[in-house]
Amino acid sequence: MRLDKMLSNMGVGTRKEVKTLLKKKHVTVNHKVVKDGSKHIDENEDIVKVGDNVIHYQEFTYLMLHKPAGFLSATKDNHDKTVIDLLKNDVLHFKPFPVGRLDKDTEGLLLLTNDGDLAHQLLSPAKNVEKTYFARIRGKVTVEDTEAFKAGVEIDDGYVTKPAELEILQSASQSEVELTITEGKFHQVKRMFKAVGKEVIYLKRLRMGEITLDPALQIGKYRPLTEAELTYCEQIKKSK
Ligand code: URA
Repeated sequence: MRLDKMLSNMGVGTRKEVKTLLKKKHVTVNHKVVKDGSKHIDENEDIVKVGDNVIHYQEFTYLMLHKPAGFLSATKDNHDKTVIDLLKNDVLHFKPFPVGRLDKDTEGLLLLTNDGDLAHQLLSPAKNVEKTYFARIRGKVTVEDTEAFKAGVEIDDGYVTKPAELEILQSASQSEVELTITEGKFHQVKRMFKAVGKEVIYLKRLRMGEITLDPALQIGKYRPLTEAELTYCEQIKKSK
């Protein structure tokens, strides 16, 4: 990989800023000053430094975001804020994108990465990755709803959903539930409750596969995935 590309990919600066750093002899490769950005380096072996800082090469980023309501699960939009607006420069240079979508008004766990293969695998219907949501429902959720969701319900376009697990936490005129589904149809949870005559008034994703929303992660904040979470991602990618 070209030295200047490696440095800008790692967020050291723009191409122009990197050029200036090189010109000013701030960059060393294996302890020798290099001024030519077109020099090819082995990004995994060579020791690249800017000043005293060693620049470690990393191709991918994997982030857990606690998505707040009011943000679109997209990379850009002309009208609304997107989840990318919540990220800082330390990760933006990786050009991360959301893995699937949460509605604008949905909160909770959203993974962001620039690893297209992982995103594809996590979202693949064949993988049956479980997604668990906490929901507040207008209407009394009953055992009949649990049975209906287990059997599959017909949503507005005629599609019959795959078996889903509904746990009733509170059954009242306003109910609280946890719902686990293995699909990701547009507005799926809202449409499933509509199919049984109820309305979702608050929705938060708690889990995707083996990745659970970190209770210490404040709303609007993000953190890199842990080793254990990354191991799960590797497994998903391998199980093609
Ligand atoms: N189901 C929905 O209805 N909305 C979401 O954001 C996620 C799942």
